[in-house]
Amino acid sequence: MDTPKLYSLPKLAYDYNALAPIISEDLLRLHHDKHHAAYVTGANTILQKMDKARSDNTDFDTKATFKELSFHIGGHLLHSLFWDNLAPPGKGGGEKPSKTIAKVIDEEFGSFDRFKKVFSQTAASAEGSGWAALTFCRKTNRPIIMQVEKHNTNVYPTFRILMVLDVWEHAYYLDYKNDRGKFVERFWNIVNWTAVNKRLDDLLKS
Ligand SMILES: [Fe+2]
Repeated sequence: MDTPKLYSLPKLAYDYNALAPIISEDLLRLHHDKHHAAYVTGANTILQKMDKARSDNTDFDTKATFKELSFHIGGHLLHSLFWDNLAPPGKGGGEKPSKTIAKVIDEEFGSFDRFKKVFSQTAASAEGSGWAALTFCRKTNRPIIMQVEKHNTNVYPTFRILMVLDVWEHAYYLDYKNDRGKFVERFWNIVNWTAVNKRLDDLLKS
């Protein structure tokens, strides 16, 4: 097979300074080029170690390896989703949801404001390092909020993730110090609801 069976760091769809002042250029560079990149490297290193163990026909510590692999793959995939559900303010970022996503949010939460409140509280109350995520369950056809600890705990198997917010300290500390609440409040100004809606429409069509 020609293509390497490894992960790669995706390029951002906007400039590093495009999300300022919500996320500064320095913070976005650090977050994408260092933190996200480290998860890609971490996952690939483990995959390559497993490849080597297979070719050498040696054993490896499966418990520790798969725990670590889950962390790194989770980190890589959640960050990839995160960059894609952001857009510069005024250029797709911060508008209100419309179309399918607006309808399912209204049906489940009663209003967009109530959804924002519950999602913001989820992000604010994530213990230590984690994420708030809006997911969709095809069994019940409900959008359901998920509070991820680290990158890989409390995840609902098979639910499609529609939107995520990173609330690890590395996601905001440079710009907001310890004020996670302020970061969460301002995050709404850069949510790309068109991208979120597309994820939902693609899921419903599949
Ligand atoms: Fe992050």
